[in-house]
Amino acid sequence: MRHVPPLPEQPVAVFDSGVGGLTVLHELLVSLPTEDYVYLGDTARLPYGDRTQEELRTFAVEIADHLLEAGAKLLVVACNSASAAAIDTLERHLEARRLEIDVIGVIRPATQLAVTGSRNGRIGLLATPATVASGAYERAVRAADPHVHLESVACGDLASIIEAGSPFEDSVLELVRGYCAPLRAAQVDEVILGCTHYPLIAPMLQRIVGRGVTLVTSGAGVARSVERALAARDLLNAQADEGDYRFQCTGDVESFRALGTGFLQMPLGDVVHVELAAAVTA
Ligand code: DGL
Repeated sequence: MRHVPPLPEQPVAVFDSGVGGLTVLHELLVSLPTEDYVYLGDTARLPYGDRTQEELRTFAVEIADHLLEAGAKLLVVACNSASAAAIDTLERHLEARRLEIDVIGVIRPATQLAVTGSRNGRIGLLATPATVASGAYERAVRAADPHVHLESVACGDLASIIEAGSPFEDSVLELVRGYCAPLRAAQVDEVILGCTHYPLIAPMLQRIVGRGVTLVTSGAGVARSVERALAARDLLNAQADEGDYRFQCTGDVESFRALGTGFLQMPLGDVVHVELAAAVTA
């Protein structure tokens, strides 16, 4: 089969387990407004934070193939759990298919920001159990600066609570206080929000960790990486107007739209339901 390189007019594809990745898409829409986007939320198989590395790799490859079928010119893995488990697998998969498609994850951009921003060399990480267990942030921090200390906290069901739409309750505040306690004890001055769902509760987190601590999210860094990757391949969309964005999810369309609007802080429009082969492994 003859290989056809992607064109600038094709969309940038973004995926997450649910609506969390919309916090990354939001940055992309603001930073690169002339691009078209297709976003997939794998809500039928959420939460990813409780999945094994092997499951996450299988899901990521399946979603990548689906999004390439939808015409993607670049893939953004807007999920820490999937980035931690599957970036290398995805790169190998695309290479094996001889596709000139870049994959951008969320771990490197967040780590770079935190490591360069920290004054005392002590960084905190709040993330899903899958992300913490993968050790991906430890490796990224060590590669960036071996003398920086990383204090990691696995936040159990926090992503599911946020995805369920009611994170602003007293019980959640107590839960989050517990997750932040080791970070306060370790006197970190930067906290990586290592799950794309967590920016939604940033005010709560900021109050608990204190105003002197910087909360680090990956969105802006991801947008810069996407811009550089597209420019390097001459794939930036030169259209004068704002591009389109559209949504797909593997679970219930209505709840995705309702919750997603708040995450994106823009109208969502139509959300299309898609079935992925292994979507039943809930
Ligand atoms: N938002 C995803 C992340 O960044 C996953 C949340 C989940 O499904 O557990 O890790």
